[in-house]
Amino acid sequence: MASSAQPEYIETFASASLVQIIGAISFALDLTEGQPAGHALRCTWIGMHIGQALGLSETNLVDLYYTILLKDAGCSSNAARLWELYGEDDRLIKKDFKTIDSQNVLQLARFIFQHTGNNEHLLDKMHRILNLGRQGEALATELIQTRCERGADIARQLGFNQTVSTGIQYLDEHWNGKGHPVGLKGKAIPLFSRIALLSQVIDVFHQTGSRHAALHEIRQRSGHWFDPELVTIVQRFVDDEPFWQGLAQNGLEARVSALCPDSNHIMIDETKLDHIAEVFASIVDIKSPYTHDHSRRVSQYADGIAEELQLSATHRRWLRRGALLHDVGKLGVSNHILDKPGKLDEDEWEAVRRHATFTTEILQRIFHFQEMAIIAGAHHERLDGKGYPLQLQDEQITLETRIITTADIFDAITAARPYRGPIPIPQAIDIMQKEVGTALDERCMTALCKRLPSWNLS
Ligand SMILES: [Fe+2]
Ligand SMILES: [Fe+2]
Repeated sequence: MASSAQPEYIETFASASLVQIIGAISFALDLTEGQPAGHALRCTWIGMHIGQALGLSETNLVDLYYTILLKDAGCSSNAARLWELYGEDDRLIKKDFKTIDSQNVLQLARFIFQHTGNNEHLLDKMHRILNLGRQGEALATELIQTRCERGADIARQLGFNQTVSTGIQYLDEHWNGKGHPVGLKGKAIPLFSRIALLSQVIDVFHQTGSRHAALHEIRQRSGHWFDPELVTIVQRFVDDEPFWQGLAQNGLEARVSALCPDSNHIMIDETKLDHIAEVFASIVDIKSPYTHDHSRRVSQYADGIAEELQLSATHRRWLRRGALLHDVGKLGVSNHILDKPGKLDEDEWEAVRRHATFTTEILQRIFHFQEMAIIAGAHHERLDGKGYPLQLQDEQITLETRIITTADIFDAITAARPYRGPIPIPQAIDIMQKEVGTALDERCMTALCKRLPSWNLS
């Protein structure tokens, strides 16, 4: 039986730099965008070099840094709607949309045809295409507005200033006024939004092609997508080897964080860390209507179970963070799987199972979360060894994981799913009792049942 004694590792947090935490967790945003790992960091690298070339002050460079690093903070908020409209993998749509010039009607039409309803009857596909064609402008505004407003809101929740949140809000505005959501034009678009969008396109075309492909693309879009002055600055980087080498994966996090002016490196404490975990949990939960508030509730239930098991206050605080972030890897699962009303096929199940591994990989990027990464990423393991991703069993599964698993299953059963409504609590408890000893820990289950009345669940 796993011990309930407070493990050594939960004491290790002292303080961490905000740059490091946000940099590490930005990999979760890359997953939702369908981008190769490190996209947000590479964009930050590119944008900070533009900012330096413009001679921005240290204070401005700090704001620019977080604007670009968090430019995709709202990315999960329109994923379900994308799946609903296109009937296709939202991550693929997001990824491929970044490679076209949406102002080019031919490119846009081809994109819609290739990315809409490919697994549906031809009539259904055509119906979707007609809908997208007829309402194109309104839908583009809706999708981008949702994403950008949510992103700006997240930046505010994380404590960033108006410059950062506004920079994120207007990320998709274009120099000629044909961007979204409001059609700002020229220098009415905040400078940091202009730099962030330019950096994004450079990274996408550099990753899929070369520096020359990236420079060619931004030249093509100069004056309609991009501020010509900024494009001219980037063209000067053509032979700057350290700049292009800086986009390599190896050592990326350290290299990029070194660009944030030292004097402004903010150290965070336990309270701030709790808050960051809550905000990122909300990014996960908003991805699908079926996971609305899931991470927050799992954290609440896990905390109640932990208290019943008499874990210390420090231990519980640590566990709450793990519970909040246990599904952060779901940002890497497309909504065409998460929200699918029918049965999942084997490939789709495999994609679902990968979320647990993604959780571990994302959290392990945070220096202070090494143990939490393993504990949170194991929440689908079972005592009988039939869980995933590692088929751990019995003693290999820590008490902390068992607590999160119990809370997670309880919430999963009592919440609505794409293929069924919510299951009433007494029935949910019956279902769970049958899994005690095979999937669930008996002590955790007893603690859950004792605690239930205090939650006033209907
Ligand atoms: Fe999960
Ligand atoms: Fe979960």
